[in-house]
Amino acid sequence: MPCTCEKIDLGLMDGVLQKYAGVTGSLITILQKTQDIYGYLPRECLEKIAEATKIPPAKVVGVATFYTQFRFEPVGKYLIMLCQGTACHVNGSLRIEQAIEEELSISDLQTTKDGLFTLKNVACLGCCSLSPVMMINGDAYGSLTPDKAKKIIRELREASK
Ligand code: FES
Repeated sequence: MPCTCEKIDLGLMDGVLQKYAGVTGSLITILQKTQDIYGYLPRECLEKIAEATKIPPAKVVGVATFYTQFRFEPVGKYLIMLCQGTACHVNGSLRIEQAIEEELSISDLQTTKDGLFTLKNVACLGCCSLSPVMMINGDAYGSLTPDKAKKIIRELREASK
């Protein structure tokens, strides 16, 4: 996992709070915009949101954890969303998962030590005709084989050197 011990710059979210903290029903918007800034929802940010909106901290955390769109750990530069929906499963997504885990030495929801890749298993990505499929930072890679998946990851690693 990348180091999470460095200080979070809470000032980055001031604009969001100035705009939305006083607006009733805007908690999800605030959480979304905060995640857009930091890539995830650091604990310190959740505390600051609670303070600014006067919503009890437990409720802010409760709402954030209810929605799968929110993350609580930093993600890598490349977020690999590997489909485990029915069509992909039937077409070998578990073998793809194994190959990715082998290549990166991480499992689901983990991030590589260099902070480059995070793996996340997800349900249907909506492009079943390409199964098995993964999406990396919004680009879909379909008809995967274990070797093809490893090659894609190696190319991305090379490209980010
Ligand atoms: S099941 Fe994988 S994209 Fe639909």
